[in-house]
Amino acid sequence: RLNFNYSGELLATGDKGGRVVIFQREQESKNRPHSRGEYNVYSTFQSHEPEFDYLKSLEIEEKINKIRWLPQQNAAHFLLSTNDKTIKLWKISERDKRAEGYNLKDEDGRLRDPFRITSLRVPVLMPMDLMVEASPRRIFANAHTYHINSISVNSDHETYLSADDLRINLWHLEITDRSFNIVDIKPANMEELTEVITAAECHPHQCNVFVYSSSKGTIRLCDMRAAALCDRHTKFFEEPEDPSSRSFFSEIISSISDVKFSHSGRYMMTRDYLSVKVWDLNMENRPVETYQVHEYLRSKLCSLYENDCIFDKFECCWNGSDGAIMTGSYNNFFRMFDRNSRRDITLEASRESSKPRAMLKPRKVCTGGKRKKDEISVDSLDFNKKILHTAWHPKENVIAVAATNNLYIFQDKIN
Ligand SMILES: *[C@@H]1O[C@H](CO)[C@@H](O)[C@H](O)[C@H]1NC(C)=O
Ligand SMILES: *[C@@H]1O[C@H](CO)[C@@H](O)[C@H](O)[C@H]1NC(C)=O
Repeated sequence: RLNFNYSGELLATGDKGGRVVIFQREQESKNRPHSRGEYNVYSTFQSHEPEFDYLKSLEIEEKINKIRWLPQQNAAHFLLSTNDKTIKLWKISERDKRAEGYNLKDEDGRLRDPFRITSLRVPVLMPMDLMVEASPRRIFANAHTYHINSISVNSDHETYLSADDLRINLWHLEITDRSFNIVDIKPANMEELTEVITAAECHPHQCNVFVYSSSKGTIRLCDMRAAALCDRHTKFFEEPEDPSSRSFFSEIISSISDVKFSHSGRYMMTRDYLSVKVWDLNMENRPVETYQVHEYLRSKLCSLYENDCIFDKFECCWNGSDGAIMTGSYNNFFRMFDRNSRRDITLEASRESSKPRAMLKPRKVCTGGKRKKDEISVDSLDFNKKILHTAWHPKENVIAVAATNNLYIFQDKIN
């Protein structure tokens, strides 16, 4: 759960414990003019607490599923965070002055004896150490029966959508007591359920258009101008299955775990278990590009099913100019694909590689045959170390990679 703000100066992260940590890039310093600023902790706050749903006797975890910045409109920053059920709008603001010289209380806040107040003082604003405050502004609750998997701020900057397994709702950022249900795929009889919604996103420029992906590997594009309830899609993207590679696991591995529009709005990218696909919005019958993330796992699907890894939900992201894409894998590896040259690289997020000025070394997984020096064999990959969440700075070559318990931020060397 990672998200850069629109200029890339701030990076928000949400964790299993319901906490949000915001990092801010330090300003370029005069003594080191050519060094890029590092990201330091700017603010930390508890966004969600564990709750209990008494009606259903269910525990609601505090784990943050998604976090999204709103475009900045004044000095304060706003972000949305969600756990399985409840979305919150947070305001993050700075304070560097405080009022001093009250008449009725002294500097520690204790009330003064009124009989000893003999003169009237005018309170003054005094500078103080910068304080960053996070305050909850709105709570959008009680609109999702199933687990929320996505939130996406619309390009009108006034509305956003939230999606769970079976429904998508549209909210106004100012209104918390009602939302519009724009997609509902819940069958009358739950036994007929064959497909669930896995991710949803608003188009970056057209505020009436959004897409959602499904557990069957399909993507539907909907236009809110066509109908209020978008049960009928406008476009339907699906790649015909290759019959030769059909297996027991075909449907599970074709489930889409993430969908992201390109910044230009012309393409979208989807991540399934083994690959990333780029789709042109004008071509529904097949993706224009397919990148293998870890094809060597195809022979391991049985054990990945047994240890539940096959259900891991990997996210994917574009770089600022849509020329490259990134997604995670196992063993703390992550993959980058250059769309132009079709070159790809495997990198590792580790303590070694995150030392200041360390270079990321390309890693290689050996797939049968003789293992070369520096290569790692498929059998020694650690499936407990996975990179599900990654984010790319919107303008520069700076990436954030969330490994199991650590956050890594890598930036390009200057020169
Ligand atoms: C992102 O955050 C930085 C740092 O506070 C701020 O200067 C910038 O305006 C923000 N950008 C946007 C577009 O929200
Ligand atoms: C995105 O990646 C492409 C291809 O590697 C590169 O040419 C471009 O400069 C990158 N854009 C940004 C904003 O980093």
